[in-house]
Amino acid sequence: MCGIFGYIGTKDPLPICLFGLKQLEYRGYDSSGIAGLYGKEIVSCKEAGKISGLEKKLALKPLALDLAIGHTRWATHGKPTHLNAHPHFDRASSIALVHNGIIENYDLLREELKRDGTHFASETDSEVIVHLIAKYYQGSVLGALQRTLPQLRGSFALALIHRDHPGQIFATSRECPLCVGFDDARTEAIVSSDPNAFLATTPNVVFLRNNEIVKVEKNQTSFFNYSLVPLVKKSERIDSEFKALSKEGYEHFMLKEIHEQPATVQKALLGRIDQAQIHLDLKLSEEKLKQLRHIWLLGCGTSAHAGWLGTLLFEDLVRIPSSMEIASEARYRNPILTPDTLVVAISQSGETADTLAAMREAKRRGSSILGICNIKNSAISREADSTLYLNAGPEVSVCSTKAFTSQISTIALFALYLAKLKGMSDAQLHYYLDELEKVPGQIQQVLSRASELQAIAKKYAAYEDFFFLGRRYMLPTAMEAALKLKEISYVNANGYPAGELKHGAIALINERFPVIALCSNIQTHEKIASNLMEVKARGAPVLAFAPQGMEAVASIADDIFWLPPAIDPFAPFASTIAGQLFAYYIALERGCEIDQPRNLAKSVTVE
Ligand code: AGP
Repeated sequence: MCGIFGYIGTKDPLPICLFGLKQLEYRGYDSSGIAGLYGKEIVSCKEAGKISGLEKKLALKPLALDLAIGHTRWATHGKPTHLNAHPHFDRASSIALVHNGIIENYDLLREELKRDGTHFASETDSEVIVHLIAKYYQGSVLGALQRTLPQLRGSFALALIHRDHPGQIFATSRECPLCVGFDDARTEAIVSSDPNAFLATTPNVVFLRNNEIVKVEKNQTSFFNYSLVPLVKKSERIDSEFKALSKEGYEHFMLKEIHEQPATVQKALLGRIDQAQIHLDLKLSEEKLKQLRHIWLLGCGTSAHAGWLGTLLFEDLVRIPSSMEIASEARYRNPILTPDTLVVAISQSGETADTLAAMREAKRRGSSILGICNIKNSAISREADSTLYLNAGPEVSVCSTKAFTSQISTIALFALYLAKLKGMSDAQLHYYLDELEKVPGQIQQVLSRASELQAIAKKYAAYEDFFFLGRRYMLPTAMEAALKLKEISYVNANGYPAGELKHGAIALINERFPVIALCSNIQTHEKIASNLMEVKARGAPVLAFAPQGMEAVASIADDIFWLPPAIDPFAPFASTIAGQLFAYYIALERGCEIDQPRNLAKSVTVE
């Protein structure tokens, strides 16, 4: 997944392009680059590493440009080097192109072009596109695109400029997000992977659909289909939070976002609970929801863990069977989706390719879709029948924290809403809502003891292997805690069902393999105490995250972090905060890059 951006207008394109790329850096930061036209000459600058490196290079040698296109990369084909950085150019340097997506048949195309004498400067799949366009160019960029695009298999969002066409940026997309923004006076326009990179002065947006081409000029944007038939496209108005993202005094965005969670959980509940009744702005009829017989939850990574907790909530509170499907698997299955199945697509970014594709497949099979997203105007939120927003504000750190607790808050509210529709008594609903409204306070209690967790983390920071064990509500919570540690400390941390360890994985246990036990599922606390005895007997250092008073584990664990008590369905919140802080402080102790870990990106927009 990469970010592409382009600007044409009355302002200096360079700083605007850099601003845009920084807003898109969450999509990848292996390398970045900018190309533009100055008169009829293409000029460019690109750099391996983060956008700050490109910025430094441009500060030393600024570019004078009439218009610009830019790219921030997450490497799919070819290492994250300067040579593989976008933009890419044809041999005559008459075209510059940036691309997001994967060209699945690029190797065949590359061989054919090489046979025609084309020399490739990079290892990327993207470079075949610019050489094909050059091959077919006979004075019309649209004509060259018309012949090139049908040859490409796979996904792409691309923008390009041609030195014979000053004052014009061309862009097109298939299965990858791309939109055009412009101001009311039609003096400037932006092409971007997502509208959140727009300026406050370009609040009008048109989203490209598959196989559409746009020609962007200062004072007009023209849309075409692949037969070059002009299209009339409706623009929308977007609200936008353009406040500069700051760490507000925290060392990392991740720590800031961990500490935002009492507020962000409250924001997820805000306006949705009134007089012990739940009000969700759902575009799904109560009749339809009452008839639900199955819920299929889709997600990836952290969002999949939230969906997993959702299946336990639907089972316990609503008595509806549900299943969490890893979206990259779900999209290739042959699911039995009946009209009384609801598909819930969970995605912080709303742009994750696997989740989007699985959702589209479910929609094609006739299912109703509920999106649970944080980003408005995102692809999933636009295509779902209804979307519940997290209202968590921008999550900058690649390692998701506040989005997860907002996702499970929102899912818990939706589960209780369904439960009420299906007959849950007012008293029961009141009880659960009371317990849910205690969560921000429970989170705050854990945050106030962060220094305790930092001291514990220092004891465990040198280990290279971990098991995170849990049962019932603590199993998806353990999976999520393990993912945090994996992502930012690069250690082999595995979430695992506590009861399953003895069926093989316990063979790994020794004194260099700590076990982190999430013990807050009261229903199964004696069982997990036995599991801790089993690993302790084999030499594992044991750290327990346990609710105050759970003495059963106190005598077994080497270290304990006491948590505020909570009912089982809502125990994941406090345990999650402990897991996030544990991972953060281990990464800090190990000197890792925390907000933008290696090999990752905030939104995985390729499969
Ligand atoms: C979470 O810390 C990871 N960055 C990753 O697993 C993420 O949750 C996953 O890529 C899904 O992203 P989404 O919620 O934006 O769809």
